[in-house]
Amino acid sequence: MLNIAILGSGQGSNAQAILDAIAAQKLDARIVGVIADVADAFILERARRNGLPAFYVDGAPFKTKLDGAAEQRVLEILRQQHAGVVALAGFMRIVKAGLLRAYAGRIVNIHPALLPAFPGLRAWEQALHYGAKVTGCTVHFVDEGTDTGPIILQRTVPVLDDDTPATLHARIQEQEHEAYPQALQWIAAGQVRLAGRRVLIRG
Ligand code: GAR
Repeated sequence: MLNIAILGSGQGSNAQAILDAIAAQKLDARIVGVIADVADAFILERARRNGLPAFYVDGAPFKTKLDGAAEQRVLEILRQQHAGVVALAGFMRIVKAGLLRAYAGRIVNIHPALLPAFPGLRAWEQALHYGAKVTGCTVHFVDEGTDTGPIILQRTVPVLDDDTPATLHARIQEQEHEAYPQALQWIAAGQVRLAGRRVLIRG
């Protein structure tokens, strides 16, 4: 069974979707820990309510990356909890070399746009302001770039004329909540293979 550790900074709705998929036996995995870099992030509260180990790691001295002592602490927790895969779920820091090396090919992320379009922050807002007619979400392996790793799965979402950032993000999140557990199940079942930048899924 796949041991997943989740890293997040916010609401944790994707973490919840992963938990629900496990409970519904759609995902053959267990969550061995939830780590957040924001002390009062709701994702930690969700973890506690579900009886999961919840860890707050202070990201200082950096604001936008996970490095130095904070990275060491995260690695310590991942090892202690026997994490096999690290799932970033609304984690708002860039993962640096130490963690990438230690978990090479085993860190995944969900991004609220169709990469490579609209990487970075508030991607749904970027899509709306750009005037895109279609956006969506992407589950991908994490590499040293920002939202640049090999793509596992994408789901599309139409941008409607009367969308606001909030309505568009909400519809993207509906797709995220199906896409992330699906991609993790492919990994859990050993169906995922990398061919260069392409991720091939064995049926
Ligand atoms: C999700 O929409 C996720 O795609 C996005 O943050 C949200 C977290 O929601 N991630 C990024 O923008 C990362 N660049 P959640 O905490 O409810 O899962």
